Amino acid sequence: MTELKWLWENLKGFRGRYLLCFAISLITPVFVIINPQLTGQLVDSVFKQLPDGTYETIVDASLLWPPILIMVAARFLRTVLDYSSVALVEASSLGLLYNLRMKLYRHLQKQDMNFFGSISSGDLMTILTSDVDMVRHNLVFVFRQIFSGALIFIIAAVYYFAVNWKFALCMVALTPFIFVASFVYRNKVKGIYKELRQRLSKLNSDAQENIEGNRVVKAFARENYEIKQFDDKSESFREQNLYAQKVWLKFYPIIDGLSQSVAIATILAGGIFLIRGELSYGELIAFTSLSWAVTEPFKMLGQLFNDLQRFFASAGKIISVLATEPKVQNTGSYAPADFRGEVEFRSVSFWFDDNKVLDDVSFTIPSGKTCAIMGETGSGKTLIADLLSRFYDAAEGQVLVDGVDVREWDLNVLRGHMGITTQDVFLFSDTVDSNIAYGDFGLPEEEVKRYATMAAAEFIDTMPEGYATIVGERGVGLSGGQKQRIALARALAVKPGVLILDDTTSAVDMETEKYIQQQLEQLDFVCTKLIIAQRISSVRKADCILLLDNGKIAERGTHSELLKLGREYANLWQIQTGGITQ
Ligand SMILES: Nc1ncnc2c1ncn2[C@@H]1O[C@H](COP(=O)(O)OP(=O)(O)OP(=O)(O)O)[C@@H](O)[C@H]1O
Ligand SMILES: [Mg+2]
Repeated sequence: MTELKWLWENLKGFRGRYLLCFAISLITPVFVIINPQLTGQLVDSVFKQLPDGTYETIVDASLLWPPILIMVAARFLRTVLDYSSVALVEASSLGLLYNLRMKLYRHLQKQDMNFFGSISSGDLMTILTSDVDMVRHNLVFVFRQIFSGALIFIIAAVYYFAVNWKFALCMVALTPFIFVASFVYRNKVKGIYKELRQRLSKLNSDAQENIEGNRVVKAFARENYEIKQFDDKSESFREQNLYAQKVWLKFYPIIDGLSQSVAIATILAGGIFLIRGELSYGELIAFTSLSWAVTEPFKMLGQLFNDLQRFFASAGKIISVLATEPKVQNTGSYAPADFRGEVEFRSVSFWFDDNKVLDDVSFTIPSGKTCAIMGETGSGKTLIADLLSRFYDAAEGQVLVDGVDVREWDLNVLRGHMGITTQDVFLFSDTVDSNIAYGDFGLPEEEVKRYATMAAAEFIDTMPEGYATIVGERGVGLSGGQKQRIALARALAVKPGVLILDDTTSAVDMETEKYIQQQLEQLDFVCTKLIIAQRISSVRKADCILLLDNGKIAERGTHSELLKLGREYANLWQIQTGGITQ
């Protein structure tokens, strides 16, 4: 029921229109009764029963007109009401669909790395598309069908009882059995659709991952393996779907058979009552033509239950995602007018579950200075960058910017002062120009070009449409080094007070790297730099170099200090330069 309450809350702004649909449904059953009732009356006035039990046929065309005119008027009115009802329900459900999708999308934007690490993008796509659609389908079709079906059944039953209660009793006597069968089915089907939804989500995730990783798949000639993987998931989805249908098929003959029996009971009981003179021809005709109103709602029960189960599975998933609060909260309000860019890590430790990945890390970077971080893969370099930009929060200790804990900063203001290039470069499938100006779309074209030049990205001019060239998804169509340079230009274009470069020049040749370093030294704004690299050539000019080992700072100092120390850094220097000092 939480799901229904949640739905009602989210219908805010459309509730009036949606309820009006139900109000219209309240009138509709009247039209269901009108036709059979008038037909019955017409038959009774043509075949008039005389007191001796025999029938007199009255041939009078004028008898035909009044009921026909009423029927035409009723049909017209019903069409108008149906039309309004569809217009109202579509407007409200499409409104809800839009709101819900936006709410989910906004919520996703708020989430942190912990969240995105815990849920696959395929699952998120399923939520944003099919789950939201399933909610709308229930709103448009299922709830209304349940309401109008129940109402039509009640009105038809009342009508039967009002006209001939004995006959009515025979008709509705079967309905409790249909109810019992339906509820047993409902219990059987519980959980099946939740599992079905999960399998669909796995199928989507698999497809998405495969498409994104197509280069790796091809490189390892694993197409057939991936087809098999997809086939397994498709098969698992098909099996679950089939299982759901089989459960339904077990109950379908019972529910359908009982519903059909109602129609047979009408003819049987009707015939007996007619012979006994307890029912007129007209009444029998009215009853038979109305018998669908009693049977139809039951026949639909199975499908309605299935759709309801799907609704609960989808709504439950949406609710659980919406209930996930990011661990990194933007609750701080510190937003000073000036930004100096002093960075301090004070006894910072961090765990991924039980795995301690940073251990008591302390260092400072004064405003405008450059700090470089080196270390083996997995030693925690990217994590330091992630903590500084608050992708995660420190488990112990503090990360401070300008002497203030990053958790006290207004997160948007803090990030607004940072220019970040992530290790795994991501470019949007948009123009090169828009990619560089991503942090500030109002950036004039000459500025975009200036930052591209600083990042040694002159190659853009040689591209087919220069800065207007569309970059393929995830930067397809560009080399690794080209992507890195566009990402660097994007980070510089926000004139950051703190620049974080994670392996940004790893795929760039030495000559270009040297040029980029010179450019970074000559920036026309104060910029504190945190440079993560594996090559000593990328870090040797830094004001301070940290060498990380298994989450701890093992060595720290300038290039010459670390060489003098004669430990791991000096060793690396030997390996990377072959001992030739420049
Ligand atoms: N999302 C995560 N969940 C669990 N463990 C993680 C996660 N991200 C990183 N780690 C672990 O944290 C440790 C530090 O990772 P980090 O990415 O900072 O390494 P790194 O020094 O940047 O390595 P590289 O040079 O390969 O980029 C690694 O042992 C890694 O396995
Ligand atoms: Mg890394």
